[in-house]
Amino acid sequence: MSTTPWWASEDLWRKWAIWITAFMLVILIFLTFDSVAKITAGSDRVPGYDVINKRIYYTFNAERNMEEPVIGGDAPLFGKMYTPEEAEALVTLGKLTTQAKNCMNCHTLLGNGAYYAPDLTKAWLDQGWGAESVREQLMVSFLMDPTANARTYGTGRRMPQLGITEEEARGVVAFLKWMSAIDTNGFPKGFKPIQQEAMP
Ligand code: HEC
Repeated sequence: MSTTPWWASEDLWRKWAIWITAFMLVILIFLTFDSVAKITAGSDRVPGYDVINKRIYYTFNAERNMEEPVIGGDAPLFGKMYTPEEAEALVTLGKLTTQAKNCMNCHTLLGNGAYYAPDLTKAWLDQGWGAESVREQLMVSFLMDPTANARTYGTGRRMPQLGITEEEARGVVAFLKWMSAIDTNGFPKGFKPIQQEAMP
């Protein structure tokens, strides 16, 4: 007669392995759908693309103990109010440009990328742009010709010429504005926003 105790039987562990794998697969599928719902534009934390028509603020939420974006009144981008379709097209152009030019090689976007250059997640709200009123144009000029319009935030590092057209630059600015409105749970930590006027 076999002396193997019941808990050491191969058959028992094979069954456990099959059940646990099947159960985890169901959980994985559930979590995938749940994550996709949470990262889709137009959900709680990720605003729709037409947020580029709004003013985006950053305020400290004492309860969460972190900075969070606040969406304010109308603030047309490049003097224009975009329809949701136009806004999506412009933000998409910007996103594709950041991918085509591999900005992540030097910068970080939403946690992905490098730290050779400033984190771009909240770049729209960066103090380096001086004032809210001149920011859009400064960003476009900088992206099109980073040598002539170097910002140099004390690092002495320079951004290379990437051959970005004006239309692409506007797309990137729209993409950065939209991204700054995403509630990223306080990421990047310690980010200091541009001087903000009172909330309209
Ligand atoms: C080879 C590295 C490199 C690549 C690639 C690169 N950058 Fe930069 N970028 C820099 C450096 C360095 C700075 C800081 C420049 C300065 O201070 O003059 C910078 C600064 C910036 C800033 C200003 C930062 C801020 O917080 O205000 C923006 C916006 C920016 N880059 C956007 C982009 C975008 C968009 C792309 C891709 C289309 C890109 N960069 C690709 C190196 C790079």
